[in-house]
Amino acid sequence: MEKIVVANLKMNFTIDEMKDYLSELNKMSFNKHHFIVCPTFIYLPLFNNNYFIGAQNCHYLDKGSFTGEVSPSQLKSIGVSYVILGHSERRKTSDEDNNIMNNKAKAVLTNKMIPIICVGETMKERKNNKTLERIKTQVYEILKDIDKNNLENIIIAYEPIWAIGTNITPTNSEIEEVATYIKQITSINTKVLYGGSVNSNNIKELKLIKDLNGFLIGGSSLNIKELTTILDNY
Ligand code: PGA
Repeated sequence: MEKIVVANLKMNFTIDEMKDYLSELNKMSFNKHHFIVCPTFIYLPLFNNNYFIGAQNCHYLDKGSFTGEVSPSQLKSIGVSYVILGHSERRKTSDEDNNIMNNKAKAVLTNKMIPIICVGETMKERKNNKTLERIKTQVYEILKDIDKNNLENIIIAYEPIWAIGTNITPTNSEIEEVATYIKQITSINTKVLYGGSVNSNNIKELKLIKDLNGFLIGGSSLNIKELTTILDNY
């Protein structure tokens, strides 16, 4: 199975720091992995090498009077192939709901890019046995009216909110249960990733999970040494 690795750089690095990071990243080889790097919008044009480029968000319209927004067609025009949608950090700070995410997912697909759709439960939901219910609602609402054939072009990242940036991860069987479930309610060919506190210490264990197409890595992708160790062990 293809091993997808998404590096979500979030809102990190000044231009000089980014150039340093980039010069190291561009020395790496990605023969074993399908590597996608997602920097802040302003740095996207700097990235161009033997990997794929992703954005961390986009608007659902292609142009117009939307000050401060970035459109899917603009991203496509500079060589972006993937767009992360609905990251829980965005859901928390903006009014993005599943309906807006649905519009964004359609816009990304129309522009011939691949959405990386983030879903995941809170700790309270997990404790109350509501995880699969929560995932189902998110997946159905976000993928509403999207052509079945397109499901093979979609990536869904299972990111439990309580595991992001906390150094706590679910057990392998908990992750596997959700990954298998997502494929059941979408398509066997939908690609499912896990994200949340993946690092060089736990990758050897996490890579044993069946039904998983890869990982979405936040904090650990900011350090090239750490990122290299993760890739070496996956
Ligand atoms: P983390 O972030 O790896 O720092 O937990 C993952 C994410 O936000 O997708």
